[in-house]
Amino acid sequence: MNESMRNHTSLGIGGRALYFVDVSTEEQICDVLNFTREEKTDMYVLGGGTNLLVSDKGVDGVVVHLDGGVFREMTFDGVNITAGAACPLSSLVKRAAKEGVAGFEPLAGIPGSVGGAVWGNAGTVHGDISGLLESVRVLEPDGTLRTRSKDELGFSYRSSSFENGDIIVQACFRGSEGDPETIEYRTFELMNMKTGSQPVGQRSCGCVFKNPQGDSAGRMIDQCGLKGEKVGQIEVSDVHANFFINRGKGNSQDMVSLMKRVADRVRDTFSVTLEPEIQMWGDCGWEVSRAQ
Ligand code: EPU
Repeated sequence: MNESMRNHTSLGIGGRALYFVDVSTEEQICDVLNFTREEKTDMYVLGGGTNLLVSDKGVDGVVVHLDGGVFREMTFDGVNITAGAACPLSSLVKRAAKEGVAGFEPLAGIPGSVGGAVWGNAGTVHGDISGLLESVRVLEPDGTLRTRSKDELGFSYRSSSFENGDIIVQACFRGSEGDPETIEYRTFELMNMKTGSQPVGQRSCGCVFKNPQGDSAGRMIDQCGLKGEKVGQIEVSDVHANFFINRGKGNSQDMVSLMKRVADRVRDTFSVTLEPEIQMWGDCGWEVSRAQ
C-alpha cells in the first residue's frame, strides 16, 4: 500500500498508489479485478513505466504490476513467437536476432514491456510493433480471457482500440526467416542511429507528443527555439526536443506546465495542435485545462 510511483516510472515522477500489487498469474489478476469491483475502485496496469506520467497527487486505485511467471515467458517456434506482456521489449528484439527471426530490428532501443508496446503500437519510422503482431491474449474487465486477432485491434500510428480495463497478458508475433548475424548488424545500426539522435540513458518518458501527420513534433519544438526550455527541474532535451528530461526532483506539475508551454508555442507558430503520446495517470491537470 502507498507505494511511491516515482520508483516505477523512467521519468522518476509520481505520488503514491493507494494499492500496488505484483501479479504473476492470470488468476491473481482476476482476484484483483474482483477486489476493484467490490471496492468500486479503479485499476491501472503498469508495464515498463517508460511512457508514463503519474500525478504528484498519486493514483487513487489499484496499480497492478505484471511481474514474473507467465507474463515473463517467451517461446519461439520457427518464426512464431509468443511473449508475455511483462517481457522487456529489448529482450524480445535481442532473442529474435539470436534465433534468426527478422523483422524486430526497428524496435531496437525502444524501452518498456511487450504489453505496453502493443497497447501503444510502439515503433519507429522503420516500422511499428503491430506490423509483426498476429494476436493478443486479453483479460477483459468482466474477467473473460479472449484472444483478439490483429485485425480486431484497430491499430494506427501509436494507438490501438484497447480500452481502459483491458489487460494484455500475452502477444503472438510472426517474423520472417533471416540470418542471425545480418539481423544483429541491422539491430546494432538502428540502435546506433537512436543513440546519436536521442537522449538515451537520461531520465525521460520517450517522445512526449505524437507526431502530427507528415511532420515531426521534435523538429517543430526545436524550430520554436525551445531546446533547453525549463520549468522547475524538467527540461526540453537539447539532443531531441520531443524528449523532456527530469534533471533531479522534477514533478508532474512542472512536466505538464512545460508540455503546455511547448504545445502553445507550437500552436502559435505552426497552427498545429500537439497531442500527448505519453499516458497520464491520476490528476495531472492536462485534460482539465485543455478541454475548451
Ligand atoms: N529533428 C530536429 N530537432 C529535434 C528532433 C528532430 O530538427 O530536436 C528533426 C530531425 O533532424 C529529423 C526529423 O526532425 O529530420 C525527424 O526526427 P527523428 O528521426 O528523430 O524522428 P521523430 O519523428 O522525431 C520518431 C518517433 C520516435 C522514434 C524516431 C526514430 C514519434 C513521436 N517519435 O521521432 O519514437 O524513435 O521516429 O524512428 O513517433 C517514441 O515514440 O517515444 C519515440 C521516441
